[in-house]
Amino acid sequence: MPSLSAKTIKAGVIGWPVNHSLSPRLHGFWLDQYGIDGVYLRLAVTPENIEAALRALPKLGFAGANVTVPHKEAAFRIVDTLSDTAKKIGAVNTIVCAADGTLRGDNTDAFGFISNINAAVPSFNAAAAPAVVLGAGGAARAVIAALIEAGAADIRLTNRTAERAEALVAHFGASVQSVAWDDRHGAVDGAGLLVNTTTLGMTGKPALEMHLDGLIKGAVVNDIVYVPLKTGLLQAAEDRGFQAVDGLGMLLHQARPGFEAWFGKRPEVSEALRRHVLAETGSR
Ligand code: ATR
Repeated sequence: MPSLSAKTIKAGVIGWPVNHSLSPRLHGFWLDQYGIDGVYLRLAVTPENIEAALRALPKLGFAGANVTVPHKEAAFRIVDTLSDTAKKIGAVNTIVCAADGTLRGDNTDAFGFISNINAAVPSFNAAAAPAVVLGAGGAARAVIAALIEAGAADIRLTNRTAERAEALVAHFGASVQSVAWDDRHGAVDGAGLLVNTTTLGMTGKPALEMHLDGLIKGAVVNDIVYVPLKTGLLQAAEDRGFQAVDGLGMLLHQARPGFEAWFGKRPEVSEALRRHVLAETGSR
């Protein structure tokens, strides 16, 4: 723990519960790496206190905060200004306290998703072939927003609860079409990207059943799940010669814009950072 002073730049992650958040570990790594006089704290805040807690951030001298489950939608309603991406996604995961005491809300999950894909597969072109997205929660919204921004024009969305998929189709428009969950195996025909945003395949959850045979040669398969790091989906993708991209990278990349805004340094995602964060997930 560094010695703290009134000048020490303060940020943190607000959640309920927040014990399992990996964000303190990854921001802590960067603070050490870049020798910054800063601190990044775990802030456990109940839903009934979220508004008061966010309003207190500038008064307590915080540079800002990340917001995680279950507060991302509440933060969206509470902050004073929103980035275009946050508006598209309807949720806020990164807050920056402005000099005038107002709160600016951003959502960096879309950036984290596409940065992770681009870092792992530099030749990836979202416009080149259809994409398939499994799931219709907050993570799916961020993935779809990122894909549309990157030029994807044919996104096939499939979710167990059809109404949630339909709601996203209505929100994002003509580049997204919904496919019934039972027909999901056929949705990958001719696709160049498959992304799992459901919790299926996560340690303690049921396995994801998904046929990959229709994907085009060189297709990218990405799992948002990162515990375990190599999910059944990613193993199956590797076995068939597709480009498997794990979910840890999205978590690491989504943290970069917040760190830069609060601490004034654009951080890089390195193998050393991955190992440092993995040491924590491995011990769970
Ligand atoms: P997040 O906001 O992190 O994306 P979420 O809103 O809880 O999380 O979404 C979880 C996703 O996993 C949803 O798409 C959910 O499907 P439903 O909308 O039908 O709930 C999906 N999911 C969870 N358990 C599932 C299961 N057993 N079978 C199929 N999909 C499942």
